[in-house]
Amino acid sequence: MAESYKHRAVPALDVFKPDLFKDKVVFVTGGGSGICYGITQTLMRLGAKAAIVGRKADRLRAAAEQLERDTGSKAIATPADVRKIDTVQEAVKMTVDTFGKIDFVICGAAGNFMAPIEGLSSNAFRAVVEIDLLGTFNTVRATMEQVKKNHGNYVHISATLHYSGLPWQSAPSSAKAGVDAFSNAVAVELGPFGVRSNCIAPGLITGTEGADRLVPQGRDEMVQGFMPLQRIGEKDDIANAVVFLFSEAASWITGQVLVVDGGSMHFRGPFLPYPDSVLDARAFKSLFPGSKM
Ligand SMILES: NC(=O)c1ccc[n+]([C@@H]2O[C@H](COP(=O)([O-])OP(=O)(O)OC[C@H]3O[C@@H](n4cnc5c(N)ncnc54)[C@H](OP(=O)(O)O)[C@@H]3O)[C@@H](O)[C@H]2O)c1
Repeated sequence: MAESYKHRAVPALDVFKPDLFKDKVVFVTGGGSGICYGITQTLMRLGAKAAIVGRKADRLRAAAEQLERDTGSKAIATPADVRKIDTVQEAVKMTVDTFGKIDFVICGAAGNFMAPIEGLSSNAFRAVVEIDLLGTFNTVRATMEQVKKNHGNYVHISATLHYSGLPWQSAPSSAKAGVDAFSNAVAVELGPFGVRSNCIAPGLITGTEGADRLVPQGRDEMVQGFMPLQRIGEKDDIANAVVFLFSEAASWITGQVLVVDGGSMHFRGPFLPYPDSVLDARAFKSLFPGSKM
């Protein structure tokens, strides 16, 4: 039997020129951890200065310091809760006071619960929609004056969950569908000002809280086998896609969703045992230690 072939994830600097984003300022919600930390690190390595947004101020400050040490560029922690627009406006003001402007915005802050509909409270559903969807609106609303002035652009971190009816993911699926729709409206309303708005829909990305929750413990090999490109994604895979979309090479691309998932959306094996996971949801709870049921 032939061996499967795996392309590796490459660091952006192997492909893109090092000063690509010199003098650019990026505002990143969710930049203190996970995928959006990886994106910020890559943009800073290409010369950008960054403001990272999250609720946990101490963790955010430590992340900003680490980013500066690793990249040699500038980062500041701008704590805010994306559900509250006044706090986002304050973070925007702090960014403009420090760096003078905002060119690029990543809307990446998100929440998630692994739970069937019958195990989700109304408050839990609302919390996810408020962070992912309302948070994206608040971030765009608070930054758009700056982004219009600088003819900059938005990348919203979406997902592929909502392309089918995935069990136990009704809240983030609904919220991300809204994010995709909102991004299109931003593309149309702000396009004439020279502003672009696109989404990236990551597949499963290793080393993130999201993947830790979604991949049953010890099942990495099985999950990789279901992916056409035969590996779980890495933060660099997503960061490289963001670099392309922020670059002038994408200057005629707006209102799109770029799926970065190793081809997984075209091969939908059952993610959970089906229909058992909906008929007897509690029996599968132990597969997902972080699940809220
Ligand atoms: N991991 C995956 O495999 C995967 C797959 C598809 C899509 N995605 C998407 O990729 C993005 C990053 O995911 P991740 O797995 O890397 O997650 P993560 O590390 O948990 O990142 C979520 C970030 O959002 C911030 N956040 C949450 N609620 C917030 C609020 N109310 N206000 C401000 N910031 C808030 C968190 O910071 P604080 O806690 O400090 O607020 C955290 O930094 C998300 O949009 C997610 O939906 C992930």
